[in-house]
Amino acid sequence: MEKTIVNHSQPTEYYEVYVWEWPVRLFHWVNFFSIMILAVTGYFIGNPISIASISEASAQYWFGKIRFVHFVTAYIFVFNSVIRIYWGFVGNKYVRFNNFIPTSRKQWDEILDVLKMDVLQIREKATHSVGHNALAGFIYAIGFVIFLFSVFTGFGLYSAMTDSWFAGLFAWVVPAMGGDHAVRLWHHMLMWFYLVFMIVHVYLAAYHDYVEATGTISSMFGGWKFLRKKKQITR
Ligand code: HEM
Ligand code: HEM
Repeated sequence: MEKTIVNHSQPTEYYEVYVWEWPVRLFHWVNFFSIMILAVTGYFIGNPISIASISEASAQYWFGKIRFVHFVTAYIFVFNSVIRIYWGFVGNKYVRFNNFIPTSRKQWDEILDVLKMDVLQIREKATHSVGHNALAGFIYAIGFVIFLFSVFTGFGLYSAMTDSWFAGLFAWVVPAMGGDHAVRLWHHMLMWFYLVFMIVHVYLAAYHDYVEATGTISSMFGGWKFLRKKKQITR
């Protein structure tokens, strides 16, 4: 089995690479917080709790507030991604669209290498990609399709309860997918995708931080990754 282990007992020289520009980092964290808010408010919409109170339900209006937060966040969620799509055209080489769709032999080889390392655990040599590794990029592309599905089903449902022209663009979704019940069920199930994705995603980001030692986790805060000037391999 191939091994690349850094000898940490020797001083190591690093150089820094600015990988994630601020619009990408901003997108990432707005996206994260939007999904958290949508998941919590959405869960309560699907499983409402009753709050006993002497005042009239219409005076409390707590459920209306929950739905309001869900809908406002839905708009933020959508327009935040529009900015990221724009940045896919104008951003640096690490964030452009070709990082997400594996079209070259090199990308497919990297996908295999990452699978061997992260999932099958039959390889102990990190791939050291500076931006996303090819497998991560491909999973984010699949995540984008799921995002579209949430937006279409969400705005499809919303179009029946608002005069908003934007929601009106999705009025065809509910009839096309077999009615309100089916669409709500799909919309609900998609929530679990994000939650499972997040657990695996954070685990893998931490794992790559450990095996690559380039500062993967902090890179989504500051933008920088740190690469070794020369490889220090001990065995
Ligand atoms: C990460 C994205 C999202 C998540 C996790 C999410 C989650 C949920 C969940 C779990 C429900 C309850 C479904 C049920 O069991 O009945 C729900 C309802 C709903 N969501 Fe979302 N949602 C998301 C995005 C959106 C978007 C972009 C819109 C667009 C407006 C939207 C609009 C709605 C509407 C209209 C309902 C039904 C509300 C009602 O019947 O009172 N959601 N959402
Ligand atoms: C629902 C939660 C999350 C979603 C949907 C999500 C989604 C994404 C996406 C789409 C990217 C690619 C960024 C781009 O090119 O625009 C990314 C990268 C990244 N995320 Fe998240 N993220 C989530 C939560 C988190 C959390 C909680 C952390 C904190 C540890 C985190 C750390 C990172 C890191 C370090 C990267 C860069 C890793 C790489 O090179 O692939 N993410 N995330």
